[in-house]
Amino acid sequence: MELRGLTDEYTIDPVNRVVNFKGDEEFVRLRVAHLEKVKGKTTLYTEFVDKFGDTNAYAFHNLYPYKGKFYPRVVRTLINAFKLNHNSLLLDPFNGSGTTTHEASLMGIKSVGIDITPMGIILSELKNDLLFIEEEKLNFTASELQGILKAIENRKWQHPNPTIHKLMLVIYFDTADAFLRTSRYNQKGKMGLFIEKLNYIKDCYKKTMEIKEKYGLKFEPAKIIGGDALQLKNMGELEGKFDACITSPPYYFSIDYVGKDKIAYDYLGVDMKKIESKYLGMKNGKPRNNYAGLPTRVALYYEDLKESIKNIFWALKPGGKLAIVVGDSTVDGKKIPTTMTTKKFCEEVGFKFEKLGFVE
Ligand SMILES: C[S@@+](CC[C@H](N)C(=O)[O-])C[C@H]1O[C@@H](n2cnc3c(N)ncnc32)[C@H](O)[C@@H]1O
Repeated sequence: MELRGLTDEYTIDPVNRVVNFKGDEEFVRLRVAHLEKVKGKTTLYTEFVDKFGDTNAYAFHNLYPYKGKFYPRVVRTLINAFKLNHNSLLLDPFNGSGTTTHEASLMGIKSVGIDITPMGIILSELKNDLLFIEEEKLNFTASELQGILKAIENRKWQHPNPTIHKLMLVIYFDTADAFLRTSRYNQKGKMGLFIEKLNYIKDCYKKTMEIKEKYGLKFEPAKIIGGDALQLKNMGELEGKFDACITSPPYYFSIDYVGKDKIAYDYLGVDMKKIESKYLGMKNGKPRNNYAGLPTRVALYYEDLKESIKNIFWALKPGGKLAIVVGDSTVDGKKIPTTMTTKKFCEEVGFKFEKLGFVE
C-alpha cells in the first residue's frame, strides 16, 4: 500500500526481504513505515522505533493510556497510501486521543481532529502543543512539583501557560488512576510517580527533538476541535475542505470510553452521562430501520454511523479518500457485521471502494 503511494514503480523480493523502487529515495526514507532502510540508510520511522524502543509509543503517542487508540504506524501507512503531502488537509472526526493528528503533525501534514470527549480534546491538544513548546518550560524543581501536586489535589491548580496547565493535570490523572488500581506504586508514593511520569514526558520531548534536528523535520500544528461528528455540517467552514479522512468510530458496545477517565471527569466537573449520550447510537427512540432484526441499540448505532459517514463525505473534496478502521463484534450472542455494513454505508453515501493491498 505504501509503496504504491510513495514510489513511481516498485518490485518486492519477499525471499530476501528487499524492495527495489523508482522514485525519490530521500522522500521515501522520511515517510515509509514498513522499510527498515533505504539505500543502506535507516528510515525515519525506524529511527523513532529504535530510539523509543517501541513500534508505536514514539514521540507523544504514549502520553496517556486512552482506550481504543490507533496504532500510529497504521495512520502513517494510510497517509502514504493516500499520497498526502504538506499541501494536503487530513480529517479525523473521531480523533480520540489524537493519534491521527499527532502522526500527521510529525509527518508535516496539516490536520483537523474532532472528538466529543473532553479528555480526548485535552490529550490531542497536549500532544500537539508539546511539539512546539520550549524545553525549559518543562523544567521544575522538586519543591515546585510538590507545590503543583498539592495545588491540584486542593483543586487550586492554575498555570498561565495552557500547555503546562493541561500537562500537569494529565500527569496527575494518570498517577491517581495508577494508585487507585494497584498497590504496586505505594513505595514510590504519589509524588514519586508524578515525577516519574513527568520525566518520561521530558524524555519523549528530548528524543523527539533530537530526531527533528537530525532529519531537519518541520512539524505541522494540528487543529483540535471539541465537537460532534453527527453535527459536522454545523461547522460550515469544513465543507469540501479535506483531501482525506482517516478515522475509527467508537464501537460503543465493546469499549467504555468515558468510564476509564472517571477520575479526570470528576476532577473537571464534567457530566459523563451527558457526553455519553452524544456517542454514536446513544440517542433514545426507535430506529427507522431494524437491519434484519439486530438489537435496537445496534440499529440506532448503525443509523448514527451512516449519518457520520455522510458528514465525512460532505467534508471531503470531490475524490477525497476515506479510511475507516472498524471491526465486527458480538452483542447478546449475535454477530454484528459492522465491517461489511460500514462498507455498504460508504457506498450508499457516494464513496467508491478501492482495493489498496493484496486483499482479493
Ligand atoms: C475508537 S475511538 C478513536 C480513538 C482514536 N483513533 C485514537 O487513536 O485515540 C472513537 C472516538 O469517537 C469519539 N466519539 C464518539 N461519539 C462521537 C461523536 N458523536 N462525535 C465525535 N466523536 C465521537 C469517542 O470519544 C472516541 O474518542
